Amino acid sequence: MKALVLNGPNLGRLGTREPGVYGATTYADLVTLCVSAGRELGVEVEVRQTDHEGELVGWLHEAADGGYPVVLNAGAWTHYSIAVRDAAAQLTAPLIELHISNVHKREGFRHHSVLSDIATGVVAGLGVDGYPLALRWLATRPG
Ligand code: DQA
Repeated sequence: MKALVLNGPNLGRLGTREPGVYGATTYADLVTLCVSAGRELGVEVEVRQTDHEGELVGWLHEAADGGYPVVLNAGAWTHYSIAVRDAAAQLTAPLIELHISNVHKREGFRHHSVLSDIATGVVAGLGVDGYPLALRWLATRPG
């Protein structure tokens, strides 16, 4: 099985970006964490990050066409991008919405997600550990 881990804006700055909120793990560390979890689980994992909305939309189309499951941290787009939602709605394999921080404990504008009602499941607030957990679920889910 192949899975895509897609990250939206500002997530390439993990490690330096608001470490009190997002932790000290760098984006490079996150890639290693996901790829080695995939290796352990027998899943081919591709990890990508973009600050450009259209690029993420294109990757979601690729996942839809390839039938790949997606772990998606859409960053701020989570809260308002109908374009990202419409692209994610085309997926046929599971979609896990992921947030490093617990968005529900934060500012009110982070409480709403345009993705949650089309996601298979949501992981939030477990730090970067949420990524390997989401991948484990994808690899071991029934069906
Ligand atoms: C985030 C939470 C979002 O509200 C924020 O805009 C991000 C990261 C998280 O991983 O906790 O960029 O998705």
